[in-house]
Parts: sequence; structure tokens; C-alpha cells
Amino acid sequence: MPAPSQPRFPDHLGTYLPRRTPLLRTDVLVIGGGIAGGAAALAAANDGASVVLLSKSEFTETNTSYAQGGMAAVFGASDSVDLHVADTLRVGYGLSDPGTARAIVTQGRGALEWLRDLGAEFDRAADGHLALFREAGHSVDRIVHAHGQATGAEIQNALSRRLTAHPNVTVRVGTFVRDLLVQDGRCVGGIFLEDGLELAVEAGAVILATGGAGQVYRETTNPIGACGDGMALAFRAGAVLADLEFVQFHPTTLYIAGASRALISEVVRGAGATLRDRRGHRFMSEVHPAMELAPRDIVSRAILERMVATGDTHVFLDLSTIQGDPHELFPTISRICRSFEIDIAKDPIPVRPGAHYFVGGVRSTTEGRTSLPGLFAVGEVSATGLHGANRLASNSLLEGAVMGRLAGPAAAAEARGSRHPGLPRSDRIVPVVENAPKLHLDDMLYSLKSMMWRQVGLRREGKGLADAVGSIALWSHYLERAPTRDRAACELANMLTVSALVATAAFAREESRGTHFRSDHPGRDDSRWCRRLMLHRAPDGTIDVQAGPVVPPSDPR
Ligand code: FAD
Ligand code: SIN
Repeated sequence: MPAPSQPRFPDHLGTYLPRRTPLLRTDVLVIGGGIAGGAAALAAANDGASVVLLSKSEFTETNTSYAQGGMAAVFGASDSVDLHVADTLRVGYGLSDPGTARAIVTQGRGALEWLRDLGAEFDRAADGHLALFREAGHSVDRIVHAHGQATGAEIQNALSRRLTAHPNVTVRVGTFVRDLLVQDGRCVGGIFLEDGLELAVEAGAVILATGGAGQVYRETTNPIGACGDGMALAFRAGAVLADLEFVQFHPTTLYIAGASRALISEVVRGAGATLRDRRGHRFMSEVHPAMELAPRDIVSRAILERMVATGDTHVFLDLSTIQGDPHELFPTISRICRSFEIDIAKDPIPVRPGAHYFVGGVRSTTEGRTSLPGLFAVGEVSATGLHGANRLASNSLLEGAVMGRLAGPAAAAEARGSRHPGLPRSDRIVPVVENAPKLHLDDMLYSLKSMMWRQVGLRREGKGLADAVGSIALWSHYLERAPTRDRAACELANMLTVSALVATAAFAREESRGTHFRSDHPGRDDSRWCRRLMLHRAPDGTIDVQAGPVVPPSDPR
């Protein structure tokens, strides 16, 4: 298969530090206010650092706020760190880093108790202990919930209250970070847009906690802001990214044409709901012994294949097989479905898969350090190696909380030790491009999302991936030539970058493993591919891909 024509990405979006840009100073700059950014900011601030936290969305619009199923942590009498690590590694299909998995899982219980101390209330069983639930891939009950399926919102609220009250933390919501500032090979801050103005923050250390990129796909569970900005920022700044070919698709998002794709939590299948096609056939019985609770990639592909076989746009989730009242068991899902006149106790829910979680991201250590000095990455934007080629359900809230708490003090210490001579100012201006193409950004965005869904989604093959990279190269070229530098254009440029990274990594990995399925290479090939793919920006702006060991030899610095 010939290599696709390569997009070239600039190292900035016309960004530089203009002489007149107002400059704030802080010890630690945190970009993102979900579970990872919130935990990191509080941990750095509690360590004595001054912290500026920037978030482009309201805190109610983070991925964290939408998390339903819960947070995995070892609490049950029949559970252990060994068991949780073993489940994580099994679902990671040979690419999870065992040391990282152990380091994170070991601290899960402490992180959950810390969130409880911040005021998050988790559901309890009749005996007063935490109520524990199960999702696909877990061998015991270990998922902790809040208010049924409102776990993320409860955690987010607790973090948000603390963040806004903390004397060391300045929170600025509605601020879009456009680029990182790099000086002499070190990340020293960020440049952001707020109320139409451009501002900059100079920091001793920067923590990226910008979440995932589900919005690059037409079908997704992710809220509107999940554009992969942080991955694109880090790529332009020269950091190494990893595992981008692994995008987890959730099998069950509500499918109603024209409506946003709300998640129907796996907990519903965990409680006994069954997947059926239009004729009522329970097709998972032919696919996997665990049926509806098989790993997500298997269930998602089985649904897609059933849709193709029956010519339908969706399948159905049938809750009539569940013990108990579904309205009481799943109040959030009941409310969402009721708004579309679906009574979950009686009516099967129309569902189909949607892009859900980015396993890959900015490569980071168990302290959150990236390959770029001064830059840390935590939460969904990062790739610690915990998830391997697939993520165990409810392990991402766990990772976000644990990693945020570890990276905060590490960044605070880095800031204490950092001394740099101040940022040089420039009189450069963004040149106006003659004959720039007239772009309809919405149209380009829709084309990108559709193409990613069709060619870089659940089933991939070499030609489709190469074509996708070629299309992205063309669109990036048009967008780069356009003089516009508004937030929507920046987000689209970031989405093009992230899409190119995913398609390039997916093209390179000539096998099928975990969430990555190549119909032209349907088998898993450990002899060639028990390796992680590392990507970074080459000097000419193209994407350089290198295969590296599962366990990195040392700290990425
Ligand atoms: P987020 O919570 O997404 O926060 C990202 C932050 O970065 C936001 O504040 C955003 O505004 C900000 N940001 C982004 N770009 C910029 C920019 N350019 N400038 C400034 N700010 C920026 N995981 C589980 O473990 N259990 C679950 O039950 C679960 N359920 C889920 C249900 C749904 C519907 C979804 C979408 C995800 C679910 N997940 C679940 C995954 C989990 O919610 C996320 O992986 C996790 O919350 C990510 O946290 P984060 O802090 O990394 O990012
Ligand atoms: C779900 O509730 O099904 C999502 C859980 C997760 O993504 O971890």
C-alpha cells in the first residue's frame, strides 16, 4: 500500500507573542477543568503554587460532567489491586504498561476518598458501604456511582466548588487556549482568546488537561468541546504523542435522527438489558460468550455488522429483561429517553455505536511529564500506557483523578525550580493571504466528521485510511491559507491535526488489536505489532511515526 500524501502542519496557528498582548504570570498553568485538570490544579495549589486554570467550556460541559457509569476503584472484599490490574491488562490487548497500570490502580481508592472529602457523594448499599457495580471487562463489582448515572456531574461539582473557592487558584472559564508558548525547548506558557481578546500566560510549568476528541467523528457521545485541542497544541509544540490509532467506540448511544447522541450506559447492559435487531433477534448470542458484556470493540462491531446485514440505521436495547424498575435504576437515562417519548420500561431504545474515548494522546509518565520539558499531560489528553489498545470501562475517571493528583505537585516543584529570562516579544503580524479560498467551515467540519466515521471508524482498511490522510492534507492546506484566526477556525485546524494523527497511526498499524480493526489485516500480529506507535511533528511539518516498546525505557524526557 503506497504511503498517503502527507499533510504538513505549521508549528503554530500564526501565533507569536505580540508586543501588546497582555501577559499574566503564574507558577502553574492548567488548561482544562474536568476531573484531571481540576485534581491537578487543586493538588498544585495545595502544594503552595499559584495556579491559573483556563477552560474553554463551562464546567458543566466537560466530558467529566457527562460521565455516567462511574469510577473503578478497589473497595470490595472479593477485589484486589492484582485483580483490577489483571482486568486492565487483559482489556488492553498486550499494549498496557503493567507498571503504569499498577501505579494508577494502587492509588484509585485514595483518589476516590479524596473526592469524597471534597464533597462528592457516592451511592451506598443498604449496609452503608459503597454500592459497587460491574461493567464489561471487570471480573468483580468495583464501579462506584453517584446518584445512579450522574457520577461525573457529582465529581465535577465537587471539584468546581473547591476550585473557585481556593485562594491560590484563578479560574477563567470561556478562555480558548490557542497555542502553547515554547522557548529554548521548554514550554513556558500559553496564548489564549477571551472575549475576542488575545492574552498570554507565562508559567513555570504547564499542565494540559484538555480531554478527548470525540467530536472529530460524526457519531459521538462527547460534548461539543471535545475537539482534541490539547493533542494538536502539544503536537505543534513538538511533544511526542502515542497510541492515536486506538479510539474507543461505545456500543450504545441513543440513535434518533437529528438528536444529539446521548450515552446509554453500559451499566444498563450490566443489569441485564439485551441487544436485539428489528426482528427481535438477540444477535450477540452468536458473537461472544459474554454476549452484551463482551468488550466494547466486539459489541460495537457486532452492532455495525448487524446494521449492515439488516439495512437498518440502528439496533435496539431491550430493558424488559431487567429485574426492577428501570426508571428507578436509571433515572438519568429514563429522563433523556422520556424527552424523546421513549418509556424505557416498555419501549426498546434505538441505539448505535459512537466515538467515545481517545485512548491515545500526549505521551506521559506516571507523574504526567511529557517529552517537552515544562509540559505535563493528564486525563484523556494523555497516553500513559494504562489503557493499551482498549480502555477498561470506568478506568478513565480513575486515571484522571490519580494522575491529576500526581502531576499537580510535580508541576509545582518544576515551577519552583524553573528560571527563564522572560518571553521575547515580537512585532510580527499575521500576513493577510491574497486570494485566500472562501471557506465554509461548517461544511468542511461536517465532511471531516463523516469521513472519519466512514473511513477511520470501527472498520478501517489501508486505502480508505490513505485517502482520508490525503483529504485532510488538502483541507489543512486550504485552512492554513485562509486569513481567519477565530476560535472556530482554530478548533477545526486542531480537529484536522488530530484526525491526521489518528488516520496516520491507523494506516501504519497493519494488524487488528483492541479498538483498532483493519479489515485488510484482520488478525492480531504480536510478532510485528506488540509495540506502541509514537508520533511527533517532523521539522518539515509532517507526521513522523516510530514504533517503540510497550514499556518505555525511561522517562520521556
Ligand atoms: P474533560 O473532563 O473533558 O475536561 C476537558 C477540559 O479541557 C474542559 O474544561 C475543556 O473546556 C477544556 N479545554 C479543552 N480544550 C481547551 C482549549 N483549547 N482551551 C481551554 N480549555 C480547553 N469514564 C469513566 O471512567 N466512567 C464513566 O462512567 C464514563 N462515562 C462517560 C460518559 C460519557 C457520555 C462520556 C463522553 C465519557 C465518559 N467517560 C467515562 C470518559 C470520561 O468522562 C473522560 O475520559 C474524562 O472525564 C476526561 O476527563 P478530563 O479531565 O481528561 O477531560
Ligand atoms: C458507560 O457508562 O457505559 C461509560 C463508562 C465508561 O466509558 O467508562
